[in-house]
Amino acid sequence: MNTLQSIFCIYLNCKRIDEGGEGWELLIDNKPRIRPAVNVRRAFRISRHLSSEPMESPVQSLLSSGAKLTDAALERLLPSPETLPHSIHRAMRHSVFAGGKRLRPILCMEAARMVAGTGELPAGVDSLGAALEMLHTYSLIHDDLPALDNDDLRRGHPTCHVAFGEAIAILAGDALQTLAFQTIAQLPAPAATVVQLLREVSIAVGTGIGRSGEIETGLAPGMIGGQVVDIESERVAPTAELVETIHRAKTGALITTAIVTGGLYGLGSKGHGSADDTIARLRIFGQNAGLAFQIVDDILDLTQSSAELGKTAGKDAASIKATWPAVYGLEQSRRDADRLIADAFAAVEPFGPAADPLKSLARYLTTRTH
Ligand code: IPE
Ligand code: IPE
Ligand code: MG
Ligand code: MG
Ligand code: MG
Repeated sequence: MNTLQSIFCIYLNCKRIDEGGEGWELLIDNKPRIRPAVNVRRAFRISRHLSSEPMESPVQSLLSSGAKLTDAALERLLPSPETLPHSIHRAMRHSVFAGGKRLRPILCMEAARMVAGTGELPAGVDSLGAALEMLHTYSLIHDDLPALDNDDLRRGHPTCHVAFGEAIAILAGDALQTLAFQTIAQLPAPAATVVQLLREVSIAVGTGIGRSGEIETGLAPGMIGGQVVDIESERVAPTAELVETIHRAKTGALITTAIVTGGLYGLGSKGHGSADDTIARLRIFGQNAGLAFQIVDDILDLTQSSAELGKTAGKDAASIKATWPAVYGLEQSRRDADRLIADAFAAVEPFGPAADPLKSLARYLTTRTH
């Protein structure tokens, strides 16, 4: 390359322009994008276009298309802001449409796609995903209340109780939970599948913590149980066991159920009521990914800004919460999250390339920055 070509290389914001057999070949991120680009001027025009619209990675397109589908389903399922009484419906919409990542619905839909085996999403699974997002948003509204974490920023906006007052925020959370179960009960799936889904989800958002020390507590880990232990463990020196119990219950249980219910829905769409090995593998995948997710949430609370997170950074240390980094430090926490993702991958290995979308989402859980 001569000097002029080198300058173009830098200006075009691409790694290299080589002279190919028939003319110019423009490479972006080391992949040929235009072959041949007949001349430098055309290469320049096309490259400006490409660099103004950066290509999405496979996981980014999974995330953005999944979020769009979820948003559309939520729009369909939530009462309009004009529905009486206005206050609660506007409060529900305020929190639901504030800009969450929609990870639980996306995991659910990709698990369903994998199990259904057609490459397509089974009809209606977007409503199941929306129901999970309603449950998640309800948990966030209540988590932010003055009586729990007392936060005033969520998803980059004032929290529900700041915008609508505490009474309406509590009721908006309650209403999202109720609407989630109504949505699941009305899914276009065989009755036996709907019952399985209701059972699975209600246990996951329930009051269990699974085990405490060596004692089985009789109830499987559930989100509310985890929140209770989280609140009751503020200001005590956390043990490894305590923080794992909290994280598996308060966050892991809903993420696990998102993946398991996606699998159950996918099986239902094929007319198979159950496939124990498939569901068991999805459950192990979800448990590992869910725990890794909360470890990373703890890491981000320590390392990112409120602007980046859209919620108050540094809150865990300020409230002396039982977190993974408080027990293990940041570096070990990062290693633990990576190890858990490797364990999650191992569980879905028998599904082969069909599991790639789920695996790339699990990897994203640990590489995300908010
Ligand atoms: C935050 O979850 C709350 C936890 C369970 C740790 P997300 O990070 O998925 O939050 P949104 O939905 O994108 O706002
Ligand atoms: C929240 O955990 C878990 C649930 C809402 C069930 P956190 O309290 O760590 O979540 P953030 O950091 O406020 O999002
Ligand atoms: Mg909390
Ligand atoms: Mg919180
Ligand atoms: Mg947190």
